[in-house]
Amino acid sequence: MKLLKDKILKDGKVINESILKVDSFLNHQIDGQLMKEIALEFKRRFENENITKVLTIEASGIAIAVMTSMAMDVPMLFAKKKVPSTMDTSIYTTKVFSFTKNIEYDICVAKEFLSPNDKVLVVDDFLANGHAALGLANLVKQSGAELVGIGIVVEKGFQNGRQLIEEQNIKLESLAIIKDLKNNKINLK
Ligand code: G4P
Repeated sequence: MKLLKDKILKDGKVINESILKVDSFLNHQIDGQLMKEIALEFKRRFENENITKVLTIEASGIAIAVMTSMAMDVPMLFAKKKVPSTMDTSIYTTKVFSFTKNIEYDICVAKEFLSPNDKVLVVDDFLANGHAALGLANLVKQSGAELVGIGIVVEKGFQNGRQLIEEQNIKLESLAIIKDLKNNKINLK
């Protein structure tokens, strides 16, 4: 997606060889117009899939998912990172390991919002090692709904998220793929 790639090259900031900061348009301040185009691009890439729900994880996925759900005219649902401490049978929950933060955390969604009749598109801002996306896929699986695919705004192609997702035969669409961040430069595919 050319508009997104141009924006990444213009405003993305290389923090080190594995982290790209996009706080000026995606992760903190949000460029609404770009977000609208991102949503339309996801709609195009998952056309004819009869998606009934867009699922993401808080926090940065929410804006992307809201826009995408509006473009598709379906509800949006976000997994929460705060799971009730008591045994709660009304939620689906799974564990996600974050390489960036080196911690394992629980994510959950209420059972009432995912049903076996749903056809779910998962979207997120970044794909690194794929654990967040696969955690969301796991919640969909527990509900008996169908996972139509995963849509990512920025994929870090030098990490193994794509491999893990494709090993599970899940359709993956990334709007921009970073080849590497060597020598303080953003190298896109
Ligand atoms: P993974 O899910 O693909 O395995 O990645 P990882 O655990 O390493 O990522 C943890 C968090 O960091 C995620 O956000 C992810 O979106 C974000 N992230 C990963 N790589 C980058 C990067 O290069 N740049 C930026 N800006 N973010 C990155 P999160 O912890 O869920 O935070 P948030 O959604 O609340 O912002």
